Amino acid sequence: MSFPIQRPRRLRQTPGIRALARETSLSPTQLVWPLFFREGIGAPVAVKTMPGVFQLPTSTAAQVAKDAKDRGIGGVLLFGLPARKDATGSSALDPNGPVPNVVRAMKDAVPELVVMTDVCVDEYTDHGHCGLVKRTGATFEVDNDATLSILANMAVVHAQAGTDVVAPSDMMDGRIASIRQALDSAGKINTVILSYAVKYASCFYGPFRDAADCAPQFGDRSSYQMDPSNAREALREIALDEAEGADMVMVKPALPYLDILARVRNATTLPLGAYAVSGEYAMIEAAALSGMIDRKRAVLESLTAMRRAGADFVLTYHALQAAEWLDA
Ligand code: PBG
Repeated sequence: MSFPIQRPRRLRQTPGIRALARETSLSPTQLVWPLFFREGIGAPVAVKTMPGVFQLPTSTAAQVAKDAKDRGIGGVLLFGLPARKDATGSSALDPNGPVPNVVRAMKDAVPELVVMTDVCVDEYTDHGHCGLVKRTGATFEVDNDATLSILANMAVVHAQAGTDVVAPSDMMDGRIASIRQALDSAGKINTVILSYAVKYASCFYGPFRDAADCAPQFGDRSSYQMDPSNAREALREIALDEAEGADMVMVKPALPYLDILARVRNATTLPLGAYAVSGEYAMIEAAALSGMIDRKRAVLESLTAMRRAGADFVLTYHALQAAEWLDA
């Protein structure tokens, strides 16, 4: 008895049939563009470790918002680089700091653009840690509970400036509950919280620390960010943030953590983001610039892989470029 050969290739024969069989879509609306706005500069400053990425003057905010809207991307994520840093990151609470100023300018220029703001003090502290630091001799401790009210106040300042989404990236315990409570008390019941719920202590943030000028001046972040060896712990972080009131959650980094994305996808009904971080961007750019890889195909394949693994949206420094390719 002879069976006919089973032929999966039948579904690959023409672009039309391949399109019908395609399981994963990628569109500009699923991309969020992270941006660095720096106080006190008159022209964009190139980030050495991220070719094509710039620290931007706050005066360019309206134009950048228009560019984002013209490309039809899902939103922007703002990071602020203040002129002044101190031990407590006090400039993070300044209603006239770079982030609130840029939020107002963007929402004035393009009210429908979804604006997200990173909530974390590491760009504002002189030591570069994501919370208040207690030093005892050669050791130091990041004080979880003392940091919570700062984060909550920072989120309220951003919400009052008009941000749609606050995205806490600090990894302190209990921050989602404390931010939700502060937003609600300030009447900001509609401000969305996108939690960096699953954030690993990753070397792939290296270029970001140049871009955002926030490398820790001593120690590292492994007492608050997650151990790259752990997967079950990701599910615990998701469950806690969900219970505390997160509206959306994120896994970060993305490409080396696709297994985590897939597991988190099965564990939550909330919208799920993947953050393709600075080091992922730098790897593709370095390989593309030296002619070792095709930039466009590498970017689109990577973003599709993140969607396939379960991400509803991807935060990527390639957002504008990828949106242009997807439109073409
Ligand atoms: C902290 C923050 C970091 C990133 C986003 N938010 C840096 C860190 O945790 O060290 C990294 C993003 C990237 O690498 O692209 N505010």
